[in-house]
Amino acid sequence: MLTLFSPAKVNLFLRVVGRRPDGYHDLSSLFQTISLGDTLSFQLAETDSLTCTDKSLPVDGTNLVMKAVELFRRKTGLRFGVKIHLDKKIPSQAGLGGGSSNAATTLWALNRLLGDCVAVSELQAWSAEIGSDIPFFFSQGTAYCTGRGEVVEDVGMLGAVPLTIVKPPIGLPTPAVYARLRTMAPAVHRTAPREDLELFLRGKPHYFNDLEAPAFAQEPTLAALKEALKRSGYKTVLMTGSGSAFFCIGKGTATHLYQANAVYVNRPTNQWY
Ligand code: C5P
Repeated sequence: MLTLFSPAKVNLFLRVVGRRPDGYHDLSSLFQTISLGDTLSFQLAETDSLTCTDKSLPVDGTNLVMKAVELFRRKTGLRFGVKIHLDKKIPSQAGLGGGSSNAATTLWALNRLLGDCVAVSELQAWSAEIGSDIPFFFSQGTAYCTGRGEVVEDVGMLGAVPLTIVKPPIGLPTPAVYARLRTMAPAVHRTAPREDLELFLRGKPHYFNDLEAPAFAQEPTLAALKEALKRSGYKTVLMTGSGSAFFCIGKGTATHLYQANAVYVNRPTNQWY
C-alpha cells in the first residue's frame, strides 16, 4: 500500500493572455501548492476500483483519478489493476486544483508501484492530455505556468507563507467562467506578462486574477464576499483559478463559510509532497 498527500494549489497571479484557435486560453500564472490537501492510497489489485469519502463525487471513468490510471496504462502498455481510496479534503469547483492534483498523484503512485519505469518529465508531459493544470503538480510546487497552463517553469520557493482559504457554497465550473470571459472586454495590464513574475520574485508582489471579473459577473455574491473579507482585515484577498474559492493573506475575522488555514508547501526533489 502506498499512501500519498495530494496538495491543493492557488494562483498567486493569473493573466489571461489571449484566446487560442483551439478554444483554450493562453495564460501567464504563478502557481503555488499549499498544505491543504487530500490523501490517496494505492494498492495493486486484480481489477481497478476507486472509493472516496465524498459520496457526491463520481468514482467512475469520469473521475480524473481513473483518467490518470487509463492514461498510464495506455502510455506504458503495462497490464495491472489498482485499488484506490481518496480521502477528500479539497473543496470541488473551487479553483484549488483538487482533481488535477489527484490525477498527478495517481500517475506518480503508479510509476512508484510499477518499478519507476517512467521519467517524471514524461509523466508531466503525458498528464497535459487529461487536464491543463495537471503538469504543474510535477514541479517543485512554485512554478510559472504559460501556454494553457501546461508549460511549467520552476521558480525559487517563496517560503511557508500562511494563508486562509475561504470557499462559499456556490461552486463555479471552469468552462462557464472562460465562456463569460469571452463576452467581456480584455483586462488592461501595464506590465508585460513576465514582469509580473519578476516583480513577485523581487518581493514586490501584485496579486491579481483576470478570471475574477467573469466569475463575479457570473455570480455577483463573490464580489461582495471579496469585499467583506477585505473589510474583515485581510491584506490580500484573491480568487484562485476559475473560483469560487479565495485565498487570504494577513489577519482577518472568521466567516461562517468553509474556511481552512494552510501554508505554501514545496515538493522535495525525488519525493512526492
Ligand atoms: O484543460 P482542462 O480540462 O482543465 O480545461 C477545462 C476547460 O477550461 C476547457 O474546456 C476550457 O473551456 C477552459 N480552459 C481554457 N483555457 C485554459 C484552461 C482551461 O479556456 N488555459
